[in-house]
Amino acid sequence: MIRVVIWGGTGLAGGELLRLLAGHGGMEVVAVTSRRRAGQPLWTVHPHLRPDYPEMLFISPDEAEAVEADLAFLALPHGSAFPVASRCLDRGLKVVDLSADLRLHDGALRAAWYGAGGAPQELVDRAVYGLPELHRDELAGADLASGVGCNATALNVALFPLARAGLLEEVRAECRVGSSEGGATPSEGGHHPFRSRALRVIEPFRHRHMAEALQELNLDAARLTLTMTAVELVRGIQMAAQIRLAEKVREADLWKLYRRAFDGEFFLHLTPARPSHLRFPDPRLVLGSNRALVGFALHDDGRRLLVVSAIDNLIKGAAGSALQSANLMTGLDERRGLDLRPCYPA
Ligand SMILES: NC(=O)c1ccc[n+]([C@@H]2O[C@H](COP(=O)([O-])OP(=O)(O)OC[C@H]3O[C@@H](n4cnc5c(N)ncnc54)[C@H](OP(=O)(O)O)[C@@H]3O)[C@@H](O)[C@H]2O)c1
Repeated sequence: MIRVVIWGGTGLAGGELLRLLAGHGGMEVVAVTSRRRAGQPLWTVHPHLRPDYPEMLFISPDEAEAVEADLAFLALPHGSAFPVASRCLDRGLKVVDLSADLRLHDGALRAAWYGAGGAPQELVDRAVYGLPELHRDELAGADLASGVGCNATALNVALFPLARAGLLEEVRAECRVGSSEGGATPSEGGHHPFRSRALRVIEPFRHRHMAEALQELNLDAARLTLTMTAVELVRGIQMAAQIRLAEKVREADLWKLYRRAFDGEFFLHLTPARPSHLRFPDPRLVLGSNRALVGFALHDDGRRLLVVSAIDNLIKGAAGSALQSANLMTGLDERRGLDLRPCYPA
């Protein structure tokens, strides 16, 4: 059994890690931290997991520093995770950091999007970007992985086949997002009477997660815009990208490109061209699973393309990719604990 500590266990991503690990079988949760809830049972925050963790109590971050373990998941806000990552590595633990601290490898890009004073470059250099579909070989045996931005993941899984083929001339993407992206702490705009039934544009052109798409798709910022819109969902992201292709293509060639790129990928799936109501992925078809769905339609002119993806932000966009990375880092089957079917209709 691989002994696991979860830092930030009262949060939404931490709770989702607890849920996934309860059914994993090869990893055992030995400690879960909270500053505010130390000493209280896990189920007071995650009541749906009471039968899985009937006796376990949150411990303080100080206590967690001395816990014997093999791997730590850090589900902490950005800025607070990298010092913990450093200390865990010094104690010989492998680390998967779900925060944004270690995702961007270029120092200037990191400073531009997250400000100065973040993780030291040596630590970032040691981290593998934690999207297994793009970094499987580097993750195998690594001791440090970053997490992924959920919106970035909706973009990256949908666009990497086109990026690798050099076909992305310009991308105008919109992510329609659920409220759980904002974490467990209520905010003014996120308070239920105002957030529920919202259809609100949060960001017109730029969002921090764009930086991960620039890095992973090897794009320059002038060719990508990302609009973020809050919609009536708790979980889930639907990403729709209007793309100008670098050259004219045929739809049959796009099918080939995507089928080749997704071949053997357990969690990436294409939606069918027909019937038309299933052509573009609905987040409801992935909720509760680590799956990503991708669908597309090519304009008659062969240059304009719409690509749509859907993921569960808390799973493929956070805890699921983190667990997939941890499985690879510890030599386990990357699907372990993640072979989950979506709950539909929900
Ligand atoms: N929500 C998503 O869809 C999503 C997707 C991808 C990645 N992520 C990333 O995953 C991380 C966690 O996100 P979340 O949505 O789960 O956030 P969250 O619900 O706000 O949870 C944050 C957790 O961190 C703890 N915490 C806060 N500040 C801390 C500090 N200074 N030191 C130690 N612990 C601290 C909190 O518990 P206590 O206050 O009890 O200590 C809580 O358990 C973030 O970095 C986020 O960017 C989230």
